[in-house]
Amino acid sequence: MSTLSDRPANPVVGEAVPHGDAVDHVTGAALYTDDLVGRTKDLLHAYPVSVPHAHALVTRLDTAPAYDVPGVVRVLTVDDVPGVNDSNINHDEPLFPTEIMFYGHPVCWVLGETLEAARLGAAAVEVDCEELPSIVTIPEAIAAESFQGRAPTVSRGDVDAGMAAATHVFSGTWEASGQEQFYLETQASIAYVDESGQVFIHSSTQNPSETQEIAAHVLDLSSSEVTVQCLRMGGGFGGKETQANGYAAIAALGAKLTGRPVRVRLNRNQDIQFTGKRPDFLSTWQAGFDDDGHLLALKVVLTADGGWSLDLCQPVLSRALCHIDNAYWIPNIQAHGRIAKTNRTSHTAFRGFGGPQGMLVTENILGTVAPQLGLTGEEIRQRNFYRSADQTTPYGQRVRQIERLHQIWDELLTGSDFAQRQQEIERFNATHDDTKRAIAATPVKFGISFNKSSMNQGGALVLVYKDGSVLVNHGGTEMGQGLHTKMLQVAATALGLPLSKVRLAPTRTDKVPNTSATSASTGADLNGGAVKHACDQIRDRLAVVAGGFLGVPPADVRFADGTAYGLNSEREPIPWEELVRTAYLQRIQLHAAGYYRTEGLEWNEETYQGSPFKYFSYGAAVAEVEVDGFTGAYRNRRVDIVHDVGDSLSPLIDIGQIEGAFVQGAGWLTLEDQRWDAGDGPTRGRFSTQAASTYKLPSFSEMPEVFNVTMFKNATEEGAIYGSKAVGEPPLMLPFSVREALRKAANAFGPAGTSVHLASPATPEAVFWAIEAARAELPNDVAAQQIPNAADAEQRVPSGV
Ligand code: MTE
Ligand code: MOS
Repeated sequence: MSTLSDRPANPVVGEAVPHGDAVDHVTGAALYTDDLVGRTKDLLHAYPVSVPHAHALVTRLDTAPAYDVPGVVRVLTVDDVPGVNDSNINHDEPLFPTEIMFYGHPVCWVLGETLEAARLGAAAVEVDCEELPSIVTIPEAIAAESFQGRAPTVSRGDVDAGMAAATHVFSGTWEASGQEQFYLETQASIAYVDESGQVFIHSSTQNPSETQEIAAHVLDLSSSEVTVQCLRMGGGFGGKETQANGYAAIAALGAKLTGRPVRVRLNRNQDIQFTGKRPDFLSTWQAGFDDDGHLLALKVVLTADGGWSLDLCQPVLSRALCHIDNAYWIPNIQAHGRIAKTNRTSHTAFRGFGGPQGMLVTENILGTVAPQLGLTGEEIRQRNFYRSADQTTPYGQRVRQIERLHQIWDELLTGSDFAQRQQEIERFNATHDDTKRAIAATPVKFGISFNKSSMNQGGALVLVYKDGSVLVNHGGTEMGQGLHTKMLQVAATALGLPLSKVRLAPTRTDKVPNTSATSASTGADLNGGAVKHACDQIRDRLAVVAGGFLGVPPADVRFADGTAYGLNSEREPIPWEELVRTAYLQRIQLHAAGYYRTEGLEWNEETYQGSPFKYFSYGAAVAEVEVDGFTGAYRNRRVDIVHDVGDSLSPLIDIGQIEGAFVQGAGWLTLEDQRWDAGDGPTRGRFSTQAASTYKLPSFSEMPEVFNVTMFKNATEEGAIYGSKAVGEPPLMLPFSVREALRKAANAFGPAGTSVHLASPATPEAVFWAIEAARAELPNDVAAQQIPNAADAEQRVPSGV
């Protein structure tokens, strides 16, 4: 009997095939939801009436003037909702609000023959408001005691005794900023009522089943009357796990009421203004160390900004609390979390799902205190690593395979010539007053599975047609991460077929029901398990047929390269097409539903204890930066990564995921400076950095100049699909190494042992202020020489420039 992790002799998984849509992506041939506009007759366009207050009561809404605008067909308001006026399963987000909860909150939607007609109609709608006091920062929320949802605690040991036993105790408060998903394709839906009366919704959603559920309850329909399809997304990054639902419901409501197809697509400014982001986290911490730098006790309070409603912030916070330890043994710990309620967009998932925010707290502590304890960042980290798989996390899960992290760390530090480059950097820095370099290494341990055990299930429907062609349906969505390519590889492997024989259908709720969001990096694990289960059933049935012809028992039939052959059989292998045709004539079922659930998970949401994760993903990165002392600008000179993806299902895709996640994480940590207007003026609460012009995303110029990505070898993960591990999110945390390198470079502007505070994101400006703080540590005369001023800077311009 083969297990889930066994690979057959000739597998298609593990082959370095390109992303199935790669050519279509780069030629522009790949269609996205909104590309269906040109193919949809009689389409109506929807435009929101957006209210520019952070917090206000709607006292009057007059839609009549909109109808005077030529081309306006209908205005959708709360009175049109036949079912529940609700766009989220937490029931705390009215689809049509009467209370404006964040700057830009749409109050109703106008449908027009053209987008322009709808836009002008929306501008004509009259809205009167009574402004209410608003809360737009986490400190304001804390002062007002404005919180929402549960406030859980993870704890172990005796944190006060641990702190008392510590010879060095440090404390601090700092805020790590949020992050805008900035998927290239903004939120989009097209809905219509089809010829059978079914409400059909094309939606750019990571969670078609939940989009279906929300649209159904808004329309007062059963789930069986609503179908949601997601062809592909132009990126989701967590921002389409819940946030697509409301827009799909608006499109569906419009379609139901007018009998015409309705399109909702946000433009970039609307998307950024309306939709939730990675929540900012404010953390207050106290950490006790012994003389050798062992972390003895950690006490933290994490306050996440939930925005105006809960959305996914409870699970995001759970993951933050379950990752505060990252890769470190912390004997005494008390980590308390809470969710601020503010007048901002409703914050949500973003790659890593709170894990990064939790891990960053501890990484920041280690990076800050290392120089003060006379250690390097690498020494203090390595000293605190979990040592053995018998140790448990603060929430009680054994750290299985922790030896992998030790191997990765050693392999990485050796392979990147860490020690030698460290010496070169010291020499460089000794001779350069105004430019400093630094190198730093950081680890990642990331738990895979949804914290909530019930979500860890997946489904598939595999159809084999009489001509031998295969159509694979599964419950996961494609957002660029390559899930569909991996699923084709899984199906081809399980059926012993070349990749060209299998084809993938768009994700649809009428093919595979009750799916979980494609998120928490579980897409390949859950859907791969289900696709394989479906294929195994078909293969087992075909093995009976083939065994008859090959003269071997079914258990001795093997499928490879498009044929079935018998072990130790003299007879000719049977071509797949012939076998399928024969099986059909024998009335053998040629399709199967597959199902997978992750076994062995347990999680107690009350005590915050259990083993919520199937396994941990491990990785580590080394980053080298060069920082300019006049501006704080920096270059990412080189990055080396060793990362554990188990036995890769698809190496090109996995390398792409590691590189992409790294750069996206580096964007969060060093570039993406999101600004909310917290002043008292009329635009209070507005997200000011609402376009690519003011929101700095990483691009080619921020790619590391040298970028070496290696996958950890011989890494079979027993009990996971073909021995692989999830890859989508864990590498996002590898660029902690960039942040730590920037900190070290800033420290290098001060005397030995300097330890500066570094804001997050560590933008050039933040780095500049860290450098200034480091210089202030220098004895006065030296500092005076080093502080750049205009005259000084001018003198340094080489002659002839
Ligand atoms: N990669 C691309 N290109 N686009 C995306 O939107 N989302 C990330 C990651 N990689 C994303 C991506 C996030 S947030 C998750 S949870 C996983 O992909 C989801 O897909 P998976 O479970 O199939 O890895
Ligand atoms: Mo990813 S944040 O779990 O969609």
